[in-house]
Amino acid sequence: MTKASKVRKAVLPVAGLGTRFLPATKAMPKEMLPLVDVPSIQLIVEECVAAGIEEIVFVTARGKSAIEDHFDRAPELEALLERRGKTDDLARVRRPTELARYASVRQAEARGLGHAVLCARDVVGDEPFAVVLGDDLMDAPVPGVGQLIAEYDRLGTGVIALKEVPSGQEHLYGIADGERDGARGLKVKRLVEKPAPGTTASRLAIIGRYVLPPEIFGILAETPPGRGGEIQLTDGLATLCSRRGLYGLEVEGERFDVGDRAGYVIAMAHYALTRPELRDDVRAGLEKLLQRR
Ligand code: UTP
Repeated sequence: MTKASKVRKAVLPVAGLGTRFLPATKAMPKEMLPLVDVPSIQLIVEECVAAGIEEIVFVTARGKSAIEDHFDRAPELEALLERRGKTDDLARVRRPTELARYASVRQAEARGLGHAVLCARDVVGDEPFAVVLGDDLMDAPVPGVGQLIAEYDRLGTGVIALKEVPSGQEHLYGIADGERDGARGLKVKRLVEKPAPGTTASRLAIIGRYVLPPEIFGILAETPPGRGGEIQLTDGLATLCSRRGLYGLEVEGERFDVGDRAGYVIAMAHYALTRPELRDDVRAGLEKLLQRR
């Protein structure tokens, strides 16, 4: 039998403003934007649960209560579907509730991703945990966050997910540089948040998945505001890297940036094409569209 992982909790920061999707996100959290009929945040929770995570900690903010409601019971709706004998719909409504245990903490002000993670300190306590960002969806045979957890269990140091991005896109990401370790590993030496074009040799971008030791909380509490006046998780990770080491793993699987409008549309097409009941109609519709434009 394989040893159970010590990583049981995942922090999902969902307190950002989602300005790239305005006006859609004026009254609705961007994390509730659907991929076909499942909100993106549910796909993230599904990935965590498939990786063995038992408790999800949302870092939320004003205007984000739809996320908490989505993962809560809906007694009236459930009773109605039950009375009407709609068992498939009922199962779909109940699924998010049954996936995991949920907790949420509030980030009173959007002071940055590092600050959002720090807000989860009391709920996580003194144990390693995952951080997963809703902007990066992964479709992978082994869940992306599960790949990191396996490395954390092997090495005992913080692990970050990496993907090589095309040249010229480095300034959109946190970039990691260091010493290659095997086919997919990187002993991280340097991290830079959104480097100016042409200032970094590496094209290995951090893609929204981290497994971290609890020491990161003390580090984030001491991390001053950085780029954009925000407390940056990347700055905290750079300190963790120099004190305790940090490992990067080029994760296997397809990744979709649903925090970006074009990325969201591409992800929608991908998830529709993976659904047997939709695939043929969607493919035919897309082909027709592409012929005309
Ligand atoms: P983004 O930089 O993508 O910001 O945050 P955003 O507000 O979500 O979206 P745009 O760019 O305005 O469209 C990356 C992640 O960090 C979280 C966000 O919710 C997102 O998951 N975040 C960011 C917080 O939880 N709190 C913050 O203060 C900042």
